[in-house]
Amino acid sequence: MYSLIAFDAYGTLFDVYSMTQLAEELFPQFGEKLSLMWRDRQIEYTRLISLSDPQPQGSKHYMPFWDVTILSLRYCCKRLGLNLTAPIEQRLMDQYAKLEAFKDSKPVLQTIKSKGIPTAILSNGSVAMLDTVVQGNGLEPYLDRIVSVEPARIFKTAPQAYQLLCTSFGVSAQQILFVSSNAWDALAASWFGFDVFWVNRQGHPFEEIGPTPKFTGSSLDELLKVI
Ligand code: LAC
Repeated sequence: MYSLIAFDAYGTLFDVYSMTQLAEELFPQFGEKLSLMWRDRQIEYTRLISLSDPQPQGSKHYMPFWDVTILSLRYCCKRLGLNLTAPIEQRLMDQYAKLEAFKDSKPVLQTIKSKGIPTAILSNGSVAMLDTVVQGNGLEPYLDRIVSVEPARIFKTAPQAYQLLCTSFGVSAQQILFVSSNAWDALAASWFGFDVFWVNRQGHPFEEIGPTPKFTGSSLDELLKVI
């Protein structure tokens, strides 16, 4: 049995792709393109920041994920020739702050808690944005801790980011099951030494490099079969 089951936040517990609908409403015909490009650019920026100064005390280029999210939105709108006015930016970011949890997130967390297994989030998200989205979805009773990479001032997939879970709970990597829908996160977490459950909601192929995750399922429900 695992000493801790830890979840990625965005895309795993919370539905980032629900941004497509609002983006489509605000920029007809560009909703899907913008939301996919936005997500990619956001992650690209976290990698740039982390890789360009991978110090033990964090990257000097570090900025909170909330800022990374706004700046990547601005970039994508410029790139696509979309007029991102201040009120439109505000609407998109308000929705980002209040993303909905996937339907299976709460019941799965509830079941894990009822088995007495500690739970956590480990996310690139900043502390404030994680608190808001967790509370907005009523998930805080089912999470022992919300671990943001903020204190490490570096983003996943830097090992220091994954290490935060071990330090925070006083457990070894081998005692942790890490759950992510992001293949890059699932891969790096396996490299770090966690057992990984990859939630492949979209039926994507796994990455071509690195080990395949120990467990894979098409929804979070399937996680319950392996714990
Ligand atoms: C997270 C994002 C990046 O760390 O999925 O929550």
